[in-house]
Amino acid sequence: MIGIFDSGIGGMTVAHAVEQLLPEYSLIYYGDIARTPYGPKSPKTIINYSIRNTEFLLNKGAELIIIACNSASSVATETLRKHFQVPIIEVITPAAKCAIESSRNGQIGIIGTRATVKSGIYPKTIGLRCPEFKVHQTACPLLVPLVEEGWLNKRETKMILRRYLHPLKDKQIDTLVLGCTHYPLLKKPIQARIGKRVKLIDSSTQTAQYVKEFLVRNPEIVSRQGRVTHRYYASDTTETALKVAEHIFSRPMELIIE
Ligand code: DGL
Repeated sequence: MIGIFDSGIGGMTVAHAVEQLLPEYSLIYYGDIARTPYGPKSPKTIINYSIRNTEFLLNKGAELIIIACNSASSVATETLRKHFQVPIIEVITPAAKCAIESSRNGQIGIIGTRATVKSGIYPKTIGLRCPEFKVHQTACPLLVPLVEEGWLNKRETKMILRRYLHPLKDKQIDTLVLGCTHYPLLKKPIQARIGKRVKLIDSSTQTAQYVKEFLVRNPEIVSRQGRVTHRYYASDTTETALKVAEHIFSRPMELIIE
């Protein structure tokens, strides 16, 4: 069984992509809605939450963990890999690789939470492969609460996006990484604001593809016995969580609170 966690519902964009690309695998998801957002919190706190989330998924039978959260991937991957025996897959590498392949002019924009931007993980990962590339980052701390609240197409959301994306508009970027798994839900207004010529990189689909390739190379890691199940857990819920989840999957969803 594949285990996936995020600070809330944003990681469901990854889970949805995994369901579509790997329909033969069972999946279990944990959204830590009680503690969302992670982005403004310290690395130490995010690491502690990530350990707990991983333990939860392993106790339910997960054999591989996807950290479907850029903030947790930025600061907790190393610790989780040291702590746990199962493969831990993060979302930064697949998105960074795709951004490098997509960029023609070597000017890449990154939007993410404060934790992700502060960690410098994207400039580091891209710089290691392509030192000549320029990476321009902007933290967008208000976007996660807006998505969790279901404000996907509101005027206020577009105004905030305009403010956040403004500095990137002058940088001649041709590629923009949606460096937070909540942001694919804002793809339309982001694309409208940044312009059609800028390619958006969605870490959720890139990560699902990465997991697929990993499982082709390592088929013994995740078992495929019995009926395929997709179970979605959360540490709490809100009035809008289920609505946003159903928007992501385009089907009725059940969120099990535990
Ligand atoms: N989806 C998480 C990410 O990719 C959101 C983090 C947060 O809760 O602030 O970074």
